[in-house]
Amino acid sequence: MNASPGKTSTKSILTLGVLIGATAMLTACNGGRDQSNIELMQDMMDQRALKSQKFDDRRNKPSAMTPPANTVPRGYTPYAYAGDPIKAEAELKNPNAGADAAQLAKVLVRGHDRFDIYCSPCHGLTGKGDGTVAQYMPLKPPPLISDKVKAFKDGRIFHIITDGQGVMNNYATQIHSESDRWAIVNYVRKLQQGN
Ligand code: HEC
Repeated sequence: MNASPGKTSTKSILTLGVLIGATAMLTACNGGRDQSNIELMQDMMDQRALKSQKFDDRRNKPSAMTPPANTVPRGYTPYAYAGDPIKAEAELKNPNAGADAAQLAKVLVRGHDRFDIYCSPCHGLTGKGDGTVAQYMPLKPPPLISDKVKAFKDGRIFHIITDGQGVMNNYATQIHSESDRWAIVNYVRKLQQGN
């Protein structure tokens, strides 16, 4: 043993002191909450990329830009039946139509789950139109177990979820996946059968 325990701890206290001092000095370089600390690679920090929701001084416009005409975002497929419920009802086919019992059971579990989240607040857990927020709405959500909705083809219900109807907004942005929307359609059918 060449160093006594006492000496070692004095040394570590000194090291700690130096570390705290260095951190304090470095932190002092921060010019404020909106400023970055030390800039090691200025190009990365001071880039000219626009910040969302900010103003673009160069163009004197908000930074959000309208997409160029005739373009779509990557991975986005425009809905072919926008504004056309009749054509949608005639042409859209439910991909779950040929599902066997086991597949359908899975679809219904998913549909039940999504329905309770996205539809039940207005249309009610059993589709009677008595959801929690329905009482506060001047224009009541209609029941989904009515003869009218029973007579709709699957494509029409899918269309209403995807494109909306009247005062009901569309749910395509919340329920991204088409298969989830179809699963909801199947679950609405189950509610209509009263089980
Ligand atoms: C914010 C409340 C609200 C939510 C949430 C909602 N709807 Fe609606 N829904 C309405 C209202 C209100 C109408 C009547 C719209 C109209 O025709 O002007 C309607 C109409 C409908 C209709 C047509 C019924 C008819 O008799 O014409 C269907 C089908 C439907 N909704 C299904 C759904 C499904 C499925 C979901 C979940 C994905 C859903 N809705 C979510 C409020 C809602």
